[in-house]
Order: sequence, then structure tokens, then C-alpha cells
Amino acid sequence: MSKLWSGRFAQSGAQLLDEFNASLPFDKKLYEEDIRGSIAHATMLAKQGILTQEEAEEIAKGLMQIKQEIEEGLFEFSIAHEDIHMAVESRLITLIGEAGKRLHTARSRNDQVALDFRLYVQKQTLVIVNVLESLIDVLMQIAKEHTNTLLPGMTHLQHAQPINFAFHLLAYVSMFKRDIERLESSHKRNNILPLGCAALAGTPHNIDREYVAKLLGFDGVSVNCLDTVSDRDFALEILFNISTIMMHVSRFAEELILWSSYEFKFITLSDEYSTGSSIMPQKKNPDVPELLRGKTGRVNGNLISLLTVLKGLPLAYNKDMQEDKEGVFDSVETVFISLNILKEAIRTMSINHERMRQACEVGHLSATDLADYLVQKCNIPFREAHFITGRAVAHAESLGIDLSKLSVEELQKVDARIGEDVLEVLSLVHSMNARTSQGGTATSSTCKQIELLEAWIQSR
Ligand code: ARG
Repeated sequence: MSKLWSGRFAQSGAQLLDEFNASLPFDKKLYEEDIRGSIAHATMLAKQGILTQEEAEEIAKGLMQIKQEIEEGLFEFSIAHEDIHMAVESRLITLIGEAGKRLHTARSRNDQVALDFRLYVQKQTLVIVNVLESLIDVLMQIAKEHTNTLLPGMTHLQHAQPINFAFHLLAYVSMFKRDIERLESSHKRNNILPLGCAALAGTPHNIDREYVAKLLGFDGVSVNCLDTVSDRDFALEILFNISTIMMHVSRFAEELILWSSYEFKFITLSDEYSTGSSIMPQKKNPDVPELLRGKTGRVNGNLISLLTVLKGLPLAYNKDMQEDKEGVFDSVETVFISLNILKEAIRTMSINHERMRQACEVGHLSATDLADYLVQKCNIPFREAHFITGRAVAHAESLGIDLSKLSVEELQKVDARIGEDVLEVLSLVHSMNARTSQGGTATSSTCKQIELLEAWIQSR
């Protein structure tokens, strides 16, 4: 098959070269963007008098037929065509002849691929936002039911202070909210048309880039052609955004794994989203969150991989850049399935309130409350109150009980200034509800956070 660029070659290339050089096996995913971009380009060329109206119409009709052929599985993909751009263009020429040969006027594959890939990334960015929104909905629903469900808040994976389960879930909602904001900011920044830059230096043809931008839904036109054809920042941004989402997913997954162990037993994953062992009949394994944690590694790999491909490239387009697509496709697919399955796994899990509450009864979770009590009621400086409380904890340990279970008499052995009213302060529910500061864990503060987050959701 002779290549569209074969004019200056005396001999045809080797089969091995075709295999190595081709991006068609993966960039055929961009057929829709390629056809949309070409129709917009042809429409503009006709408006500018570079093509006739009839030629542009023939081109659009031919391209729509090609789209249909691809969607019906009738299109013959051959790696001899190298990439989706040349596969579509060759087919167009076969279908409509002369007019098809005029389509590539004032265009290069360099700005064409920059356009197609950007259109894909922009579209997927908004789809990821939608998927995050539905995950947030599920988290909010569960949160609303658990504003009073005690659970040990941890630092260093050690019991720290009692919190409620809704408060814990809202921490994840806050992360996913930032992820949405990051995606939307990327979308806004990158909504700029690359087409019309041609190979690197622009074109002598009298094109109208603003018009093409409007046809394709872009907010503006790129400023500098040399930058535009070698810019893959938009691809790096979606990779980074996905890595950050997956880092959040992975932290949540890690907690789900811990929480479903015998030692914690805070949650039970549904049978629907758990797996068994091929040898140990009793096992119910958290494969879903484990895979979520594992897949985070591969999306990080995709980000580092593209950063590395780009880091030494001179301006402008270099073939290295063909390596930009597979990682992005992979990360996009990975984040979709990951967010969807995380949503289902948490929607169907059961929450063992009783185990969460029991866990709060070990680890002296109300120790900070005793120190705060000594500060507020006895006017003791915090550092000293901290020390006294430490001794009370040591005393409770020596008796083999939790601080919250010490009697007033025992507490007074540690410090005579402690009064009867300390008992209420040491209760776990009291401890949680004492933290009423903005963003704190008290049920009242947690409910305010729910309101704020719901207002944000509704404002969208
Ligand atoms: N298949 C190429 C890619 O994905 C398209 C651009 C090729 N341009 C070129 N001058 N070889 O990057």
C-alpha cells in the first residue's frame, strides 16, 4: 500500500517498520474526534473560499460514512496506514476522490493529533467529574445516617480521639470535591484550539482559527504554534488529576481493607463485592479495595512515563510524542472502573456500629478531654494538664482499664483538683460532641459540614 507521504521515497518501508511506527492499533480510539475535527476544518476552509461549498459537503458526507463504517465494524484497519489520521484520510480519498485530497490543506498531522487528543482528554475530564459526583452522592447518603456513629479517630494508626463515622466519610467527600475542582480547572485552562498551527510554524493559507474554535466548542485559540504542536500539558494534567483521585481512592481502600479484617470488623463488604479463596474455604477477601490500591500504582506509572517521554524533547513535534496516548487511555479506563466499583462496594457494605463504638473504649480516647477539663475547670496550664493526664492514663493502664472507666476517687489520687463533673467529660459521646469548632467532629459541626457540601453540590 503506498503511503500518503511516499512522494520522496524510492523504496517502500519494511514491514517491521510499519509495526514499530504505527499508532493505529491504539489511536483508532480517536476516530470520532478525528472526524469531528476534519469536518470543522473543511467547513472553515469552505467559508474561507479555500475549498468550494460542494467539496466541503462531499468531505463531510464521506467522513460521516467512514464513521458509520467504523462503528459497524466494516472499516478495514491496516497498520500500513500508520495512524487513525491517515487511515481516515486514505479511506476518504478512496470514497470521494479529488475533494478528499484537498482536506489536508493548511493542516499537518502535528496539529491534527494535538486536536484529536485534546478533544478526547477534554471530554473524558468531564465524564470523570460525573462519576465522582455519583460517588459523592453515595458517600453523602451514608454520612447522613451516621452523624452519631462513634468510631475511633486515629493518628499513626493508633487510637486518638472519638469521632463519628459521617465525619470520617466527609473527609473523603472533601478530597473528591477537590478532585472535581481540579478537573474543572484543567478543563477550563485547556479548552483552547490547537488546530491551524499546521506542522509547527502556521500556514500561509487564509484560515480562520477562531471560527474552528467556535465550531468545536473551544473558548479560544492557542497563542504560539511552536508551543501548540509540542504541548502535552493537557495530557499530563489529566494523568496527574487521575493519580490524585486514585491516591484518595487508595487511602480509602486501605481503610476498607483494615476495617474488614477480624481485628477491626468495622465493616463487612457485601458478598457481591467480595471474593473467595481457591484453597481456604472460610475466606472472604477484600479483592476490590486491594485492586483499587494496586491500580493506583499503574496510573502513577502512566504519569511518570509521560513526564519522562517529554522531558528532553526539543521543539517542536517529535515522534516520541506518539507514546503519549496509551497511558492516558489506560488511566482514564482505570479511574472509571475504579470509581464505579468503589461506589458499589461502599453502597453495599454493612457498617458494624457496635464494633466501632467498642473500639472507642480502648486506647484512652478521652485523654485530651481530661487535659482540656483541667485547663478549663482548674485553670491549669495545658502543658501541666497534659502531664497530669498522662499520669492518669498510666494509672488506668496499671488497673487494666480505659481512662473513661476510672472512678472519680481513682482520678483524685492522681490530682486532687479533679471534681465529680469529670465523669461526663470523659464519656466518649461527650468527647466527640465537645469538638464543636468549625470543621470539628461534634455531631452539630458534622451536620454543618453536610449542609455546606450539599449546598456546593446543589450549586453545580
Ligand atoms: N501518530 C502520530 C502521533 O500519534 C501522529 C502525528 C504524526 N506526525 C508526524 N509528523 N509524524 O503522534
